[in-house]
Amino acid sequence: MTEHPATEPAAPDRAALQGARVLLGVSGGVAAYKAALLARGLVTHGAQVQAVLTDAAARFVTPAQLAALTGRPVPTDLFEDAHRIVHVDLARQADVAAVAPATANVLGKLAHGLADDLLSSALLCLDAPLVLAPAMHTEMWEHPAVTANVAMLRERGALMVGPDHGPLAGGDHGPGRLAEEDAILDAVAAALGPSTAPAQATASTQPTAGDEPLAGLHAVVTAGATREHLDPVRYLTNRASGRMGYAVAGALARRGATVELIAGPGEQPDPAGVTVQRVETAREMHAAVLARADVADVVVGAAAVADFRPAETAAHKRKKGAPDETEQLTLVRNPDILGDVGARKRPGQVLVGFAAETQDEEAQGADKLARKGLDLIVVNRVDAPDAGFAVDTNRGLLLGADGTRAELPLMRKDALADRLVEAIVARLPSRDLPQTNADR
Ligand code: CTP
Repeated sequence: MTEHPATEPAAPDRAALQGARVLLGVSGGVAAYKAALLARGLVTHGAQVQAVLTDAAARFVTPAQLAALTGRPVPTDLFEDAHRIVHVDLARQADVAAVAPATANVLGKLAHGLADDLLSSALLCLDAPLVLAPAMHTEMWEHPAVTANVAMLRERGALMVGPDHGPLAGGDHGPGRLAEEDAILDAVAAALGPSTAPAQATASTQPTAGDEPLAGLHAVVTAGATREHLDPVRYLTNRASGRMGYAVAGALARRGATVELIAGPGEQPDPAGVTVQRVETAREMHAAVLARADVADVVVGAAAVADFRPAETAAHKRKKGAPDETEQLTLVRNPDILGDVGARKRPGQVLVGFAAETQDEEAQGADKLARKGLDLIVVNRVDAPDAGFAVDTNRGLLLGADGTRAELPLMRKDALADRLVEAIVARLPSRDLPQTNADR
């Protein structure tokens, strides 16, 4: 079992909630009663909360209750004040929208642009960040239609929080439980991120259309997990989704760099303007990266590479054989991709790694930075619910070989990618590039 250090990672900055106008959509599931607590939590953090209930939600929690908690009337009906075009106003007056709980029905409507009630109509007018906290029975959450809708919404930029794994209504147990109030508050604060000081720094250096400061730069990025095959039907892998590496590849390409993404298997859509090469095993990834490393100006290793592979991959499905209760597997070391790139690093090249840790993250990260000859390393805890694998947000520390150390507060992975690219740019041999403030 993982041993946790005495101090937990710092709570993300919720200052962004102060004064923020939050459109809180509540849809109809048993967890709707928790929306009242969330509304109170948002108000406690200084947010101005406008709650909107679907008809089904109003069967679980009353508009009067939410109105009392938020200090604002709670509309439920698209046609109640039809002359005021309420759904458009609701959307325009929001700095962020959060739907908690978000039922399978609401996710489906949002994904497909349906607007048959006040909440779905308002969300279709929304031009602000959107946080979705799904809650439903496991069977619904795992249905391919819901999976596809969630992927579509993520791709469009919605920030998903949860669902958690735990007890569900009716005595069931599994994934589908509404995320904890704290996690939703953090997600809403993270979605508002650009209004916080560190994110503003990022926003101010965002390239505008036509602004290509990295034109002519060649970057190689690794992403995702590798698969190490035991036999034709089984493999060893890990939980990495590839989102962080895809975000970095996209951020480099948006600034005009020529980007080659070497990605493990996964369902992330190819980022715009990036050449994607799919690989499966660590050795395939190693060969693909090493073939390009000499000509690359920047190499970013965001992949979660398997350290070991089975000593042998059976040509046919392995059989249980004798009735033993145990089975021995012999594993052999995989090559260290970034380590090998670091060993032949040429002057001016910028190498970046990630260290996903569950304890002593700063010391572990500093060690990997030195050991692999990197210029920068992003260190994060993968046992936090809002950072690491398969979530849209991340937070951690950015350590530089030059001794710099910058906190990366909770933010979306694409914002973190922008921040990282600024730090990379600052380390490139002088080009005609804008000043960076990434390491302040
Ligand atoms: N990495 C790599 N090749 C490997 C292992 C890791 O290129 N075989 C890269 C990762 O992409 C990441 C960095 O090295 O950028 C750190 O990876 P991590 O798995 O955290 O570290 P390891 O070197 O595997 O060390 P340990 O298993 O001891 O934590």
